[in-house]
Amino acid sequence: MKFLAFSTSLALTLSFSPSLALPAGSSDAGEWKTPGEGDDRGPCPMLNTLANHGYLPRNGRGISKDMAIKALDEVLNWDVTVVSDLYDFAQPTNPEPNATTINLKELTTHNILEHDASLSRQDSQFGPADVFNEKIWNETVAHFTGDTINVDMATKARTDRTVAAAATNALFTFPQLGMNFQYGETAAYQFVFGEWNLDSEDVKSRILTPKTYIEYFFKNERLPIELGWKKPVNRLVMDTLQAFTISMMELAQSQMEEKA
Ligand code: HEM
Ligand code: MG
Repeated sequence: MKFLAFSTSLALTLSFSPSLALPAGSSDAGEWKTPGEGDDRGPCPMLNTLANHGYLPRNGRGISKDMAIKALDEVLNWDVTVVSDLYDFAQPTNPEPNATTINLKELTTHNILEHDASLSRQDSQFGPADVFNEKIWNETVAHFTGDTINVDMATKARTDRTVAAAATNALFTFPQLGMNFQYGETAAYQFVFGEWNLDSEDVKSRILTPKTYIEYFFKNERLPIELGWKKPVNRLVMDTLQAFTISMMELAQSQMEEKA
């Protein structure tokens, strides 16, 4: 199928520059609060979550690269090699000339990073593509057929959502960056909330993720600390994210071939 003719050379390999100053997100960082009047949120459930906890500015605006690097390091154990590149891809969503910050709401600008076929959001053709959508999310969750989400289920959920969106949205588009990112995003939630067994021979069990964590995270945009989640002990570097994402894309290809 056309949309699966993806390149395995992920567009995630741009160079990065290490962070300098590390400003705090908010003085009451850690505590989870629903967004207040005038606070903005966007299409990324994790950046929204970090803003809800005050690890990023609670108003969802003015997020510098240093803030993103610090928050994702301290809260998720994500390395600068990952965050710097992600941030650079997001920077053009801020329309201000020479901007040095991003705003969560503006991440929704279609086909910069925001793309059709999100796991928990509707396509922009049908309405706002930034807010959680129960109906779409229920279709995704239907793929998680046990207490634990394995890589097979996560990959299938990702691919099936793309198939469904392509079939129902007359204006469906999927530029190469979005095509690569969709599997990167599915890798991202597994790396944050799952148990890593990356040396496992069986690609399907390389990360095993409690379903309760994922449901709680997506629905509440809150870290599932009260369910027992803890900051990952393993640090996520770009090479690991990239290798795992490519293995998911290959798995997706073989799932499609099996089905055909
Ligand atoms: C989705 C940006 C970090 C998990 C998105 C989207 C954007 C984005 C623009 C919307 C794509 C779409 O249309 O679905 C960023 C940026 C980050 C970042 C700029 C860092 C600077 C993270 C992290 C995680 C994460 C650390 C870890 C869990 C996700 C997931 C989605 C997503 C799971 C898919 C949501 C869905 O399909 O409904 N991100 N993100 N992101 N992001 Fe992030
Ligand atoms: Mg989207």
